[in-house]
Amino acid sequence: MNERKIIEDIKKLKREKDAVILVHNYQLPEVQDIADFIGDSLDLSTKAKLVENKVIIFCGVHFMAETAYILSNKTVILPDISCGCPLADMITKKDVVELKRKYPDVPIVGYINTSAEVKSEIDYCCTSANAVEVVNKIPQQTVIFVPDKYLGSFVKKNTKKDIILWAGYCPTHLKILKEDILELKQKYPYAKVVVHPECNLEVQQIADKVAGTSGMIKYVQQNEDVEYFIVATEIGMCYRLKKLFPHKEFIPASKLALCPNMKKNTLEKILFSLETLQPQIVVEEEIKIKALKSIENMYKLMEK
Ligand code: 13P
Repeated sequence: MNERKIIEDIKKLKREKDAVILVHNYQLPEVQDIADFIGDSLDLSTKAKLVENKVIIFCGVHFMAETAYILSNKTVILPDISCGCPLADMITKKDVVELKRKYPDVPIVGYINTSAEVKSEIDYCCTSANAVEVVNKIPQQTVIFVPDKYLGSFVKKNTKKDIILWAGYCPTHLKILKEDILELKQKYPYAKVVVHPECNLEVQQIADKVAGTSGMIKYVQQNEDVEYFIVATEIGMCYRLKKLFPHKEFIPASKLALCPNMKKNTLEKILFSLETLQPQIVVEEEIKIKALKSIENMYKLMEK
């Protein structure tokens, strides 16, 4: 089947099944192009909570679709069920229970890049867009931050709190090296460097702005007179930025920063999902209720 026909069928089935397509900023260009809504992990969670459609086709990775399920109580479909997140897999529920035993009075903040099981044991969820805000608003002075040590270190740098870090990392972001950016700076001396906080600390140090993907969009918007941006995050973000700002240039800091999981959702798989309403994401009720609490705790802190 050709791409045009697939897109036509997706649109038709979407109406018939009352489905909405939510897409993360790192997804394939053709998947971004058919989105009803594109965003970062926080935007997508909030959207999942608010949409009125019966079905959510979630084009992202497993933990994001789980979060959408927990927040929405809807049929949530992840077109490729094998889209995992190695960072999320770097901490288990058992690890969190152990941390709670070791530090009984210290609240645990967990990045949204964690499984529902992990979310069911932590105190507060956060995303790259609000990690500093969430940590700053927690009443206690000491906070445990899991699982990403680089985002955790970024938080540590931007708060007066004492942070206990976990040693997780995103293999895709760690492919970006300081040397890659310094080389590109020679070629584009006036470019601004935007860096995701999952990058290593050397890379964060040479950034003009460290921000999650929605923060990167805001930064580009605010820098009207800058034409070139070196973008240190997953490569799909450059397509997203170019679509939003066609007159500017976005140079990937490293072409190696490609998340294989994010690229598994294809148009064919989305069409198949709409035809079959499979594969569905389901979280066990008890885990769901407990995980929802940590996500709601994040929203409550953001309102403060
Ligand atoms: P954002 O929330 O910044 O979109 O990041 C999500 C993510 O998984 C980064 O690897």
